Amino acid sequence: MSNVKSIGILTSGGDAPGMNAAIRAVTRAGICAGLRVHGIYRGYRGLIFDEIEEFSTQNVSNIIQRGGTILKTARCKEFTTPEGRQCAYDVLRRHEIDGLVVIGGDGSLTGARIFANEFQFPIVGLPGTIDNDLYGTDTTIGYDTALNTIMECVDKIRDTATSHERLFFIEVMGREAGYLALNGAIAAGAEAAIIPEISTKQDQLAELIQNGFRKSKNSSIVLVAESPATGGAMGLAQRVKDEFPGYDVRVSILGHLQRGGSPTAHDRILASRMGAAAIDAFLDDQRNVMIGIKNDEIVYVPFTKAIKNEKPINQELMNTLRRLSI
Ligand code: F6P
Repeated sequence: MSNVKSIGILTSGGDAPGMNAAIRAVTRAGICAGLRVHGIYRGYRGLIFDEIEEFSTQNVSNIIQRGGTILKTARCKEFTTPEGRQCAYDVLRRHEIDGLVVIGGDGSLTGARIFANEFQFPIVGLPGTIDNDLYGTDTTIGYDTALNTIMECVDKIRDTATSHERLFFIEVMGREAGYLALNGAIAAGAEAAIIPEISTKQDQLAELIQNGFRKSKNSSIVLVAESPATGGAMGLAQRVKDEFPGYDVRVSILGHLQRGGSPTAHDRILASRMGAAAIDAFLDDQRNVMIGIKNDEIVYVPFTKAIKNEKPINQELMNTLRRLSI
């Protein structure tokens, strides 16, 4: 039988569509199991500054379809210091909270791992990031929605790219991960994806041009993952202007619109299953694990594995994109 009787839940780092569905699932599954559930506002900052409210099932009504996070989010410098974490621990003790659910990406789960080790405090993480860069889960909460948003945007840009016979570099998010760029390119029928995982090994732009880009097409769309490794869409467009002056090049940076919007069915289901599994993890006395879904099965991934364990890009996806863009 678990010692955890009262939990806190927070969202941290970049918001991702489906975070609300996860908050709802944790709250309702927690209450269903007889736990007290507390919403912690503004991520780790709200933990340090005591922005905590006990939740009932009504607090999470009518949110499954909403993007963003009702708990708000922040990137918190104070939590990276031992003093900040001590303060957070004292606040948790004061509220008699004995378990924490953290929904966030790599940075947020890194903070969770440090805190859990420092204070022997039970934490369960949920992978909430559009970047899909956490190891041990097939997808992260928000990734599918962002991918669909990218696809819709690229479909629209294609209309003007085709009409003007232009080369478009479209920059997508993903920080150091190429999932959004690569799968976005496949979904939107783009010509190429320039991603950090490969940019460090080869010059993808030179390859694209040398491989007869524009031989059979008058317009082209290239998705670029934002990252110093790729040079970003602006950097690549400048290179084309300098090295291949014949092309009519344009840039579009999709930016934060990729993080917004109502979550897809995939993300809502993923978040609901993961949220409920977080409560099961506490009841099973699992701690310091991230919930993942692999091959449609819930898995518990130790924080040390989930974080910074470079999730490799599937080469088959790259080959498919190459073969279909001739
Ligand atoms: O990690 C999620 C993410 O959206 C990244 O893809 C992006 O690099 C970053 O957050 C942007 O962060 P901010 O909203 O703080 O500018």
